[in-house]
Amino acid sequence: AFASTPMSPWEPHTALDKVYEKMDANLSIVRAKLNRPLTLAEKVVYGHLDDAHGSPAPVRGKSYLKLRPDRVAMQDATAQMATLQFISAGLPTTAVPTTIHCDHLIAAQNGAVADLAKANVDNKEVFDFLASAGAKYGMGFWKPGSGIIHQIVLENYAIPGGLMIGTDSHTPNAGGLGMVAIGVGGADAVDVMAGLAWELKAPKVIGVKLTGKLNEWTSPKDVILKVAGILTVKGGTGAIVEYHGPGVESLSCTGMATICNMGAEIGATTSMFPYNHRMADYLNATSRSAIASLANATMGNLTPDEGCEYDQLIEIDLNTLEPHINGPFTPDLAHPLSKFAEAVEKNGWPAELKVGLIGSCTNSSYEDMTRSASLVRQALDKGVKFQSVFDCTPGSEQVRATIERDGIISTFADAGGIVLANACGPCIGQWNREDVPKGTPNSIVTSFNRNFTSRNDGNPKTHAFVASPELVTAFALAGSLKFNPATDTLKDKDGNEFKLKAPYGDELPQKGFDPGMDTYQPPAAEGSALKVHVADDSTRLQLLTPFKPWDGKDYEDCALLIKVLGKCTTDHISMAGPWLKYRGHLDNISNNMYIGAINAENKEANKVKNQLTGEYGGVPDTARYYKAHGVKWVVVGDDNYGEGSSREHAALEPRHLGGVAVIVKSFARIAETNLKKQGMLALTFADPMDYDKISPSDKISIVGLSEFAEGKPLTAHVKKTDGTVISIQLTHSYNTEQIGWFKAGSALNKIRSDLAA
Ligand code: F3S
Repeated sequence: AFASTPMSPWEPHTALDKVYEKMDANLSIVRAKLNRPLTLAEKVVYGHLDDAHGSPAPVRGKSYLKLRPDRVAMQDATAQMATLQFISAGLPTTAVPTTIHCDHLIAAQNGAVADLAKANVDNKEVFDFLASAGAKYGMGFWKPGSGIIHQIVLENYAIPGGLMIGTDSHTPNAGGLGMVAIGVGGADAVDVMAGLAWELKAPKVIGVKLTGKLNEWTSPKDVILKVAGILTVKGGTGAIVEYHGPGVESLSCTGMATICNMGAEIGATTSMFPYNHRMADYLNATSRSAIASLANATMGNLTPDEGCEYDQLIEIDLNTLEPHINGPFTPDLAHPLSKFAEAVEKNGWPAELKVGLIGSCTNSSYEDMTRSASLVRQALDKGVKFQSVFDCTPGSEQVRATIERDGIISTFADAGGIVLANACGPCIGQWNREDVPKGTPNSIVTSFNRNFTSRNDGNPKTHAFVASPELVTAFALAGSLKFNPATDTLKDKDGNEFKLKAPYGDELPQKGFDPGMDTYQPPAAEGSALKVHVADDSTRLQLLTPFKPWDGKDYEDCALLIKVLGKCTTDHISMAGPWLKYRGHLDNISNNMYIGAINAENKEANKVKNQLTGEYGGVPDTARYYKAHGVKWVVVGDDNYGEGSSREHAALEPRHLGGVAVIVKSFARIAETNLKKQGMLALTFADPMDYDKISPSDKISIVGLSEFAEGKPLTAHVKKTDGTVISIQLTHSYNTEQIGWFKAGSALNKIRSDLAA
C-alpha cells in the first residue's frame, strides 16, 4: 500500500516503496525466527537480507549475512580501481544506484577558486575518466567543487532505513538520516555494483541512550567526543552504535550526522539514529518531502522495538555533558573544556593556536556555520578578529552558496577567515600549509574527525585537536588553547574585557537552501555507445586486462618469492603515501608490491633472492623477472596476513605480477576474500609449524587442484635444493562459488562468463 517514491530526486526510476516493502517482508520472516524485540540496527540490516527465508536466524557477532544494499557511493581516490574493475566485468550498467564524488583530490592552498582550478588541471585525466565511466555505466557523477561525498549523500541520497556501502570510512555520516551506511573497500563496492550479494558479519549493537537536552556551549560533536573517550578507538569494532532515548529530540538531523560520521573513530561498523521529526524537517528542506511522508508511514520499522536489548549500553545525560576537546594525535583522548587548559599546561602542548579549521564532511552544516558565525559577529562588534589562521571547508556547494547568500562567508572574511574549496583539503593532508615550517611543534584545532600524527599537514610535530566548530571558532578568536569561552573573557579593541555569549544559529536556512552552481552530471540515458576516457600513455590510469582462467593443471615448481617474517598488513603488501596517485594504474602501483614486508631469510625489506639468477633484488622486480620467464610464484606468510585496510590492491598486485598462491598461518578475513576474488589461492598451513619448514630456495608445487572442493585440503610438495621433497597439508575456506572464481580466473571473469552464457 505504498505510493511510488524515488529514493532520490536525482533518480526518478528508483522506488523507495520497494525498499520498504522488502524490509517489511524480511522482518516478518526474521521476527518469526528470533521471537524477540529488535534493535533498529537489526531491523535495517536484516531487512536487507538477500534471502531471509533461506538464511538461518541471525546471531549478532557470529553469523555471516548476505545482504542487498540499496546504493553505493564512491569518492574519487577509491572509485578509480573500483570502476576499472567494474568495467572489466562487462556489465552494461551498475546493478544498484551508484554515485561518484570528486572531493579527495583537491588540495587547499590559495582559496576555493584557485585551488579548484589547479585540481582540475592536475587531476584532469582522473576526473575525465570517472565522468565518462559514470555517464556510460549509469553512475551519478558529482564534479570537483560539488562537495564532500558524505555531505552530498546526506543532502540527496540518504534514506531512513536504507542500506548503503561507500568506499570511504566516514560513510556512516548517513546514519544521521537513519540509514545503515558502512565504509568498505573497493572490492565490496565492485561486488554490489556487479549485482552480487554483499557479505557482512551480523554486527553487535551498542546502545547509547541520550537523556536531557544540549545547552549553551555543548553541541552534537561533544556527544561523539565523549563516546570516543569512553569506547576508545577500538571499542566499536564489529558493532553498530545505535543512539536512542529522549535526548535525541534535542539534536538536529545534521548534528546526528556529525555523531554518526565520527563513529568511524571508535572503529564502529556504523552508527545510526531512529527516524524522527528532525529528520523529516531535513528531508523537507532538501526537496524530499515524499520520502519524509513515506518514512512517517513506516515508522515502526525505522525505530527500535520497545524492550530490545543491546550488547553494551552507555548512557549520556546531555544536561550535564560538557564541551570536549580530543587529542592530540588520537581522537579518543577526551578532555572536558573545564579541564583542557590545565591539560595543555601539564603536558607542555603548544598553547598558542596556529590554525583553526572548521567544516569537512563532519561538521559543515548550515547550523554549524551559523553558530560559528554568531561568535564571529560578537567579536567583530567589539573590533576583534581571528588571532589564528581560520579556514573553513564547506561540505557542499549547496551549503557554500547558502552561507554566501546569508552573509556568513563575509562574516568569516571580515574577521580574517578564508573559505576553501568544497572538498576534503586539509582533512586528508591535501593542504600546502605555509605558516609553520615542517618539524616545528605547533597546535591546530579542527572540527574534522581524524587527528592522527601528520594527517592534516604532514608535520609530525603538529598537535591536532578535534572539537566542535563553535569551540574551534572561539579558540581561533582568542588565539589560544587555554581560553575557556564559557568562563574567560576576551579583550575588545580598547582593551576592555568582554565575554562571548554561547553560540546560536539556525538548524535550517530560513530562506531555504540555495543549490548554488550545477555540479552534477547524470548518467546518460543510453550509455552503450559511449567511450570511457583512458589515455594509452597515462601513468595514473590503466584499463584492466582480465586475468587468465585456471589452465586445469596443478601449479608445479613455483618459486618462493618471499617468506614474510611477522606482520604483513595491507600496508606491507601495498604501501600508501606516494603510491596513492597510482591507484588507478595496476601496473605502476604494482611496483610497491610487498616492499614493506620483511624477508624471513635476511630480515630485510624489499630484498629477496631471485631463484633463477641467485641474485638479490627488490620484490616487485624479482616477481616481474619470474613472470617474464614463465615461472609462477607463491608467497608464504605468518599470522593474520593482510590485516589493516580492505585495499583490494593488496590482492590485485600479486595476481598481476604472476603470483598464484599465498600460504600463511592465518588470514585477516577481508584479505583472504580479496585474494579469492582475484583468482589467487589463499591457503593456510594445516599445521602452523610447517611455516618453519619453508626455506628461501624452495620450489613449491600445489597439487590436487583438479579435485579442488569445499572442505577438502590441498597438498604442497616442497622441493629442497638437495632434491628432497616434503609434503605439507594446506587447508582453505573456499566454497563452491569461490572455487568457481578460481577456475574462471577471478570473480569478475565468472560474472562475465555467466553473462555471456
Ligand atoms: Fe574527506 Fe576528511 Fe571527510 S578526507 S570524506 S572530509 S574525513
